[in-house]
Amino acid sequence: MLFKKSIPTLIAEAAESGEGTLKRTLTSSGLVALGVGAIIGAGLFSLTGIAAAENAGPAVTISFIIAATGCAFAGLCYAEFAAMIPVAGSAYTYSYATMGEFVAWVIGWDLVLEYALGAATVASSWSQYFEQFLSEFGIHIPHAFLHGPWEGGIVNIPAIIIVCLLSLLLMRGTQESSFVNNILVIVKVAVVLIFIALGWSFINPANHVPFIPANEGEQMLKSGELGFFEFFRSDYFGQYGISGIMRGAGVVFFAFIGFDAVSTAAQEAKNPQKGMPIGIIGSLIVCTVLYVLFSFVMTGLENYQAFAGDAKPVATAFAKTGYTFLNTALIVAILTGYTSVMLVMLLGQSRVFYTMSKDGLLPKFFSDLSKRQTPWKTNAIFMVFISIFAGFVPVAELGHMVSIGTLFAFTLVCIGVMVLRKTNPNAARPFRTPLVPLVPILGIVVCIAMMASLPVESWERLAIWMAVGIVIYFSYSRYHSKIRLAEKAKQSQDPTA
Ligand code: ALA
Repeated sequence: MLFKKSIPTLIAEAAESGEGTLKRTLTSSGLVALGVGAIIGAGLFSLTGIAAAENAGPAVTISFIIAATGCAFAGLCYAEFAAMIPVAGSAYTYSYATMGEFVAWVIGWDLVLEYALGAATVASSWSQYFEQFLSEFGIHIPHAFLHGPWEGGIVNIPAIIIVCLLSLLLMRGTQESSFVNNILVIVKVAVVLIFIALGWSFINPANHVPFIPANEGEQMLKSGELGFFEFFRSDYFGQYGISGIMRGAGVVFFAFIGFDAVSTAAQEAKNPQKGMPIGIIGSLIVCTVLYVLFSFVMTGLENYQAFAGDAKPVATAFAKTGYTFLNTALIVAILTGYTSVMLVMLLGQSRVFYTMSKDGLLPKFFSDLSKRQTPWKTNAIFMVFISIFAGFVPVAELGHMVSIGTLFAFTLVCIGVMVLRKTNPNAARPFRTPLVPLVPILGIVVCIAMMASLPVESWERLAIWMAVGIVIYFSYSRYHSKIRLAEKAKQSQDPTA
């Protein structure tokens, strides 16, 4: 289980596959743009409303700050790995080199929650804005075909269509073009800024009162009527008050996912030592500032309770301004902005499974390449898998699963940095996470606190997903692992080795 890939092997493999020859063209600001392009999406435009209505009230702005803090600590740990092991495969690859095959498998399997379900979440939210867009022209999609059975519908057809279209595009082998990405980023940031600037003067201060809505359970806890664990397990937990802010942080954490995409561009950074931390932390800072202002304006325009069950809260809030003629433009920009997030996630998913299959942990067909050099079979399988989730599961449930899965991966990355400092103290580290072990430990604490605040069903689902993964590892992957097989072959040739 502790079979590891050596760091020189990883770098050599990347060079073999041509990845090592990527041009170092990305400047620090290019990396920040890459991060922002991958980050701003459904978390902001959809989950902010849900988290405000169900968990934090107007204090969702504080939830954003807490989530950003956890991401910053984890991001600094990502940056050390990314600069040290500048190859694709993200956290899966880092852990293969540091904590061994089993942990790598756990992370790789867990990343499906981040990337595949992340794409499903964004697609589901996309469909709601798409419906809003069509309705501006008098076209209405029946409720039954816009929602899954849990929301009183049958299937979310637009969500499935967008997943299929983008997956097919990836199968054809779209080159990520930083030019297109930059335009998408400008459009996305512009929408957020326009919303903040125009919405600001329409804020009704009454909507921000109370800023932290009261939680009855927390009051019972204070008066001793409820014990902490009783409160923790009760339905009171997470519904407003301090616990609501924490659960809100777990929910809107989704809005920050994607900054790890910057780490996968380490090989293309002009100066990874400087570029990685600037790219990761810079994109987090830009997004945090935008998110805090955006959520403040949104909850100021409309009472937080009005966002209950509303998957397109931006449109609802914007209706309170005098600029409703800009509605359509705003929605088009949101729809376009979602595209880059979904592409990054679908691409990330196929890259991770491709790498795992190359290592023998997954069947070979996951790394079969088409004539156009794309892992089209992986893309096709995930197209079906993601469509099922996007078509049937509500956006909030999906978002919770993605958040908990990603928080788990981040926790393991923070642990990995500390492990590697001990086991491999002299490895070249172009970027060092500051204040180790303090920063990784704080990262772990904040991430686990957010995980603990999420509903218990998310934990159950995470446990089931992980249990399935562990069964696959012990029944398939460990018998097919290339590193393990090579090691065994070496030993049988030279029993003294
Ligand atoms: N952070 C990305 C989003 O909010 C995943 O859509």
